[in-house]
Amino acid sequence: MEVCVLGTGYVGLVTGTCLSYLGRNVVCVDIDERKIKMLRDGRSPIYEPGLDQMIHTGLQRGNLRFTTELAGSFKASEIIFIAVGTPPQPSGKADLSYVKTVAQEVGRALDCERRRVIVNKSTVPIGSGNWVEMLVKEGLNENPAYRQKFSSVAGERDSSRTSRRLDGLKPEDIFLIASNPEFLREGSAITDTFYPDRIVIGATNSYAAERLRALYEPIVEQTFIAPASAPRPSGFTAVPVVTTDLASAEMIKYAANAFLATKISFANEIANICERVGADIKEVVRGFGLDSRIGPKFLNAGVGWGGSCFGKDVSALIDIAREYGYEPSLLHSTVEVNRRQRQVAVQKLQEVLKIIKGKTIGLLGLAFKPETDDLRDAPALEIARQLIAMDARVKVYDPIANEVCRQQHPDLKVEYADTALQLAEDCDAIVIVTEWEEFRHLEFKKIGEVMNGKVLIDGRNVVDPDAVEALGFKYRGIGR
Ligand SMILES: NC(=O)c1ccc[n+]([C@@H]2O[C@H](COP(=O)([O-])OP(=O)(O)OC[C@H]3O[C@@H](n4cnc5c(N)ncnc54)[C@H](O)[C@@H]3O)[C@@H](O)[C@H]2O)c1
Repeated sequence: MEVCVLGTGYVGLVTGTCLSYLGRNVVCVDIDERKIKMLRDGRSPIYEPGLDQMIHTGLQRGNLRFTTELAGSFKASEIIFIAVGTPPQPSGKADLSYVKTVAQEVGRALDCERRRVIVNKSTVPIGSGNWVEMLVKEGLNENPAYRQKFSSVAGERDSSRTSRRLDGLKPEDIFLIASNPEFLREGSAITDTFYPDRIVIGATNSYAAERLRALYEPIVEQTFIAPASAPRPSGFTAVPVVTTDLASAEMIKYAANAFLATKISFANEIANICERVGADIKEVVRGFGLDSRIGPKFLNAGVGWGGSCFGKDVSALIDIAREYGYEPSLLHSTVEVNRRQRQVAVQKLQEVLKIIKGKTIGLLGLAFKPETDDLRDAPALEIARQLIAMDARVKVYDPIANEVCRQQHPDLKVEYADTALQLAEDCDAIVIVTEWEEFRHLEFKKIGEVMNGKVLIDGRNVVDPDAVEALGFKYRGIGR
């Protein structure tokens, strides 16, 4: 099966690469020449465990290609994924300009020789499936191949010679639209792609749904040989497929992210109350997370959620609801609790250090979560900016994202350290912002020896308070 993926970001690249691993012929398209060059050289432009090796394998086998040329890239493709970004606008509305461009371009470039299924994998507001259909049709109207075919059919119609083909060429014979929202998590994207909790397919036409189901068959039935970098979880035998209409598929994605963001905001809200009443959020979550109706995941209190999806998707859902005259109070609270939570680290520093001006603060972690280099809406950046604005000297260390941060935020006036120990030198306080595994096992004795003052703000509750307090640290966690 031939597949084209438009957009080689976290979603498009992982999807295309994993499909090539399953034996599909995949061509990935991006307008970013630097990314495509790196990919052709077998290097991933993003940090994602196991991805480099899998790209390399696809290139060697010859069934994974990368190009900047959209026109012609899907000549052989039966399925075309749209996986471009849908970043937030200042109003919270999703910016659909990349989707628009790509949909129109696809319409203009289709060769009309076969029926294609065009799949929205990007997270898009409800109704975007219909909108993309309209845009592709607009593109088709400017498409010489389509116009030629259409006019020849119209000509035949006029001459009434081929009555069987009178209604023969409709846009739905050239393309069908489907929605296939993505649920992968950065940092475990390959595992999530091969062993997802579910696959959601939204389509109005059963042919489109059937082709997507066929594409994912090896994943649905778990018939592929698991790659070494992503072993099959024990007992994992099949994946549920939810086939539904376009609007419901689009809504499922927003509902999932809004729920997860709300779950974390809920844990943070309870953590803030715990602090005041003398309870420990970790114990509290252990107790209520065991309730099978609740579940223990996504209940870690901390300095708030970030990343490219939660903030953007919750804001977009609020915007969608408002468009229909509905004020989603719960979603507003989810965002507000998170906004306040982003202040907690600085408040704790103020509580312990009193004066921030002139102090040296070290931030452990830049990426919005471990095992990724993604800095989009990362709490660390906001904390760093707050501290700089308060005239602190800020040092940062991330096991993976230092270089990305240097490139993407050249104006951020921080000092980069190469190790956690180097970061700690001369610091009056350090803050754990990202829960990298490495930070759970730091040698706090050595770290304390090189610090100016032994203050540790554990923004992710990953350190044993008793152990570090025994070393003379003033420890502050979140909600404990
Ligand atoms: N990142 C995640 O964890 C995640 C998870 C689930 C869903 N999503 C959704 O998937 C979509 C993509 O997210 P992402 O994180 O991969 O974005 P990204 O910003 O990492 O990648 C988008 C890519 O699209 C490319 N692009 C833009 N215009 C293009 C065009 N005309 N032709 C070809 N390529 C073009 C960009 O150059 C970029 O490489 C978004 O809607 C996002 O909400 C993301």
